[in-house]
Amino acid sequence: MTTSISPLIAGNWKMNGLRGALDEISTLAGLLTTGESPRALVVICPPATILSEVCQLGATSGILAGGQDCHSQAAGAHTGDISASMLADAGAQYVIVGHSERRADHGETDALVRAKAEQAIGAGLKPIICVGETEAQRDSGQAESVVAEQLTGSVPDAAGVHEVIIAYEPIWAIGTGRTPTIDDITRMHASIRQQLVSRFPETGMSIRILYGGSLKPQNAREILSVDNVNGGLVGGASLLAKDFYTIISAV
Ligand code: PGA
Repeated sequence: MTTSISPLIAGNWKMNGLRGALDEISTLAGLLTTGESPRALVVICPPATILSEVCQLGATSGILAGGQDCHSQAAGAHTGDISASMLADAGAQYVIVGHSERRADHGETDALVRAKAEQAIGAGLKPIICVGETEAQRDSGQAESVVAEQLTGSVPDAAGVHEVIIAYEPIWAIGTGRTPTIDDITRMHASIRQQLVSRFPETGMSIRILYGGSLKPQNAREILSVDNVNGGLVGGASLLAKDFYTIISAV
């Protein structure tokens, strides 16, 4: 972990979580306020339907909230979509953009992800910009070049002066229980850091780079202590407060 950057652990609930799941937020809030105070910022990105309740329930225990996506435009005729300012209005401070599931399911391109990140920044949110290679790309030795290209295309110039977060999520590790080796994570995060510093000489050293993809209570301590891993983006293991708290405590 790069010690000068305060770590951040974000939970991505994806399309999971009815109102009953708010109990997990209450449980997490209880765990966070009774034990030693967490060494990481804690963010939950629930479905938009319960976002404002998550904000309210989390407020007293320092749990922050984020959206899982936002539109690339500020407002208008886009049935079913959600704008960055709507998320901010509901109490969100973060929003995930360019998750691989959205890139795959909705054909999102780097240019679109960049436009979404710009909207997020304009609405006062901190975008969590996701990048990551497929298994075939890793097997053919292209992982770092693929991620570099995604970063170039998806990270807006505004990242030099506004807070953004990068999440490296190898697609083949998401929801599979498989993770890259510690060496591979170290190399990828160093390469992302190098690119951020060369593009943003003033701020590149302080941009958080999260690792995501089968981050679990069992592997959190090892992965979160890798150099240039400044926290995690957690899917499945964020749904249960106990598991998520164990990951937070691993920081
Ligand atoms: P996972 O998902 O932790 O369930 O692998 C991570 C993510 O997609 O953000």
